[in-house]
Amino acid sequence: MFGKKKDRPLIDKEQLELIKTAQKRIKQKKSLYIHFVLFLIGSVAMIVASLVIGVGETLKPFGIDWFVYAIIAWLLIFLYHAFNVYFTHKFLGDTWEQEQLNKLVEKQKTRIAKLQQQVDKEHPLPTEKKTPITKTTSKKSEITLIVAAGENDAIGKNNQLIWHLSDDLKRFKKLTNGHHIIMGRKTFESFPKPLPNRIHIVISRQENYQVPSGVILVNNLEDAFDAAKSDKQPFVIGGGEIYKQAMPFADKIELTRVHENFEADTSFPKIDSNIWKETSNTYHAKDKNHQYDFSFITYLRK
Ligand SMILES: NC(=O)c1ccc[n+]([C@@H]2O[C@H](COP(=O)([O-])OP(=O)(O)OC[C@H]3O[C@@H](n4cnc5c(N)ncnc54)[C@H](OP(=O)(O)O)[C@@H]3O)[C@@H](O)[C@H]2O)c1
Repeated sequence: MFGKKKDRPLIDKEQLELIKTAQKRIKQKKSLYIHFVLFLIGSVAMIVASLVIGVGETLKPFGIDWFVYAIIAWLLIFLYHAFNVYFTHKFLGDTWEQEQLNKLVEKQKTRIAKLQQQVDKEHPLPTEKKTPITKTTSKKSEITLIVAAGENDAIGKNNQLIWHLSDDLKRFKKLTNGHHIIMGRKTFESFPKPLPNRIHIVISRQENYQVPSGVILVNNLEDAFDAAKSDKQPFVIGGGEIYKQAMPFADKIELTRVHENFEADTSFPKIDSNIWKETSNTYHAKDKNHQYDFSFITYLRK
C-alpha cells in the first residue's frame, strides 16, 4: 500500500507518434517555404544580374535570356519539392505505409477468425472432461494421504512394501476403517485381496481392467475423488504415482516416517514445509516387533 510510486508517462506511445509526425511535417513545410523564398530571391537576383549588371548578356539560347531557363529549371525543382511535401510524404510516407500494413493485418485477422468459426461449427471439439481437476471437486471431503516412507522418501520396491511394522499396519487399519481408499492399479495388485470394511477405488487407464465386485474402477483421479465425495475423509493410500498427482489436492498427510534410508524404486513426493504444517509427532523406538525406529507424523495444509 505504501510501496514506491511507479512513474507513469504523461503521454502514451500513440500520442508520442502523432507528435513526432506533426514535428516532421512542420519541418518539411518550413523547408519548402524557405525554398520558395530562396527561389523568389534567386530569380530576382538572376534577372537583376542579367538585365541590370549585364551578366551573360549575350547568352540567349533560341533567342531567350539564360535566366528564363534557369528560373524555369528552379521552378520545376521547387514544384517537385512541393509535390514531395504535399503528396509523397503525406500519402506515401512511413506513417502511411504503417497504416496500410495495419489495415492489411486487420483484414487477415478477420478472415482467420471467420475461418476458425466455420471450422468450430463444422468440427466441434468434444466438450466433456474440459474442466481441469480443481481442489473443489469434492471440497466437503478432507482428502488425506496416508503413507509410510523412509528418511529418503522410499516407499516401495518391486511392487511391495520394504518393511513390516505391525503398529503401522494397525494405525493404517484404524484410520482408514469404514472409509474410501483411493489407490493406483499397481498398489491394488500388491494386496493379496481387498481389505475388509473399506471401499476400494482403483485408478487405472485400462478401460476394461477387471476388479472384484464391490471395488470401484475409475480412469482418472478426478473421478476417484468424485466416487468418494460422500465420504468426509477419503484416504489416498498410494502408490508413488498416485501420491504425486493427489498431493496438490490433499488437505492432510498421515505419515509414518521410518528412520532409515532404503533402496527403492518408488518414493513419496517431498513434503514442502511452506505448504504443510506438522501438527503432531509420536516417536516409536524399534523393538522385537519393529525392526526400525519410526514416527507417526500428521501434517495439515497451511
Ligand atoms: N509405503 C507406503 O505407504 C506405500 C503405499 C502404497 C504403495 N506403496 C508402494 O508403491 C509401489 C506402487 O506405486 P507405483 O507408483 O508403482 O504405482 P501406483 O501409483 O500404485 O499405480 C500406478 C498405476 O495407476 C494408474 N494410474 C496412475 N495415474 C493415473 C491417472 N492419472 N489416470 C489413470 N490411471 C492412472 C496406472 O494404471 P494402469 O496400469 O492402468 O495404467 C498406473 O500404472 C509399490 O511398491 C507399493 O508397495 C507404498
